[in-house]
Amino acid sequence: MSEKKEFLTIALSKGRILDETLPLLASAGIEPLEDISSSRKLVFETTRPDVRLIIIRATDVPTYVQYGGADMGVTGKDVLMEHGADGLYEPLDLKIAKCRLMTAGPKDAQSVTKGRLRVATKFVTLAKNYYASKGLQVEIIKLYGAMELAPILGLADEIVDIVDTGNTLKANGLEARELIHMISTRLVVNRASMKMKHHRIQPIIDQLAATVAQKN
Ligand code: ATP
Ligand code: PRP
Repeated sequence: MSEKKEFLTIALSKGRILDETLPLLASAGIEPLEDISSSRKLVFETTRPDVRLIIIRATDVPTYVQYGGADMGVTGKDVLMEHGADGLYEPLDLKIAKCRLMTAGPKDAQSVTKGRLRVATKFVTLAKNYYASKGLQVEIIKLYGAMELAPILGLADEIVDIVDTGNTLKANGLEARELIHMISTRLVVNRASMKMKHHRIQPIIDQLAATVAQKN
């Protein structure tokens, strides 16, 4: 417990966000003491003795920050919207890993779907809400990746997925249809930590905000 009080713990998403997050943190004087990519460790000390980093899946970041396992976190807006962000402050758009959450389907498909549209996605809640907002009842098929395969193999009529360059869709004979949300990476903060550790958290937010403003 006392260890948790001493440290300011920042949860970072492993995967594609990590490489872009580290230079931002470095601008706030926070750098891991060892190379994260070549280590199996999950907790890293930093150049600031009172700050440590934990490296977890993007989808687990809101949970760690919500329950106070981490004071701050970095994850995608898609993850925050899908998994809920109760009990979290979202003070800063880090403007990295920008992409779009979209519907997509086979190129030049005729709309001959009988019955309910079948939609494959890992964004079950976002997809349900999106189609409901259009007055459409759909059957959602939960997948954990490679959503683009679903229409090819007749598993689904459409997918809801992240689109950046559009290369993955194109390579699989699909096309983007409708934009659901613009996505970028966000900084989140535990509500209690924001109060209790404000004097340490606010300067980090301010420095990150200055770096983001300078870069964009
Ligand atoms: P996990 O591996 O834990 O299931 P993931 O595969 O979504 O998660 P990443 O691929 O590292 O993890 O993506 C992390 C975040 O980066 C996403 O939540 C999204 O905000 C953003 N992102 C995903 N794909 C792209 C992309 N092609 N271009 C830009 N940003 C992306
Ligand atoms: C993401 C997303 C798309 C792809 C889109 O996948 O799920 O498949 O990127 O990017 P593009 O428009 O630039 O081609 P990712 O590479 O993260 O793999 P995943 O299926 O494991 O999520």
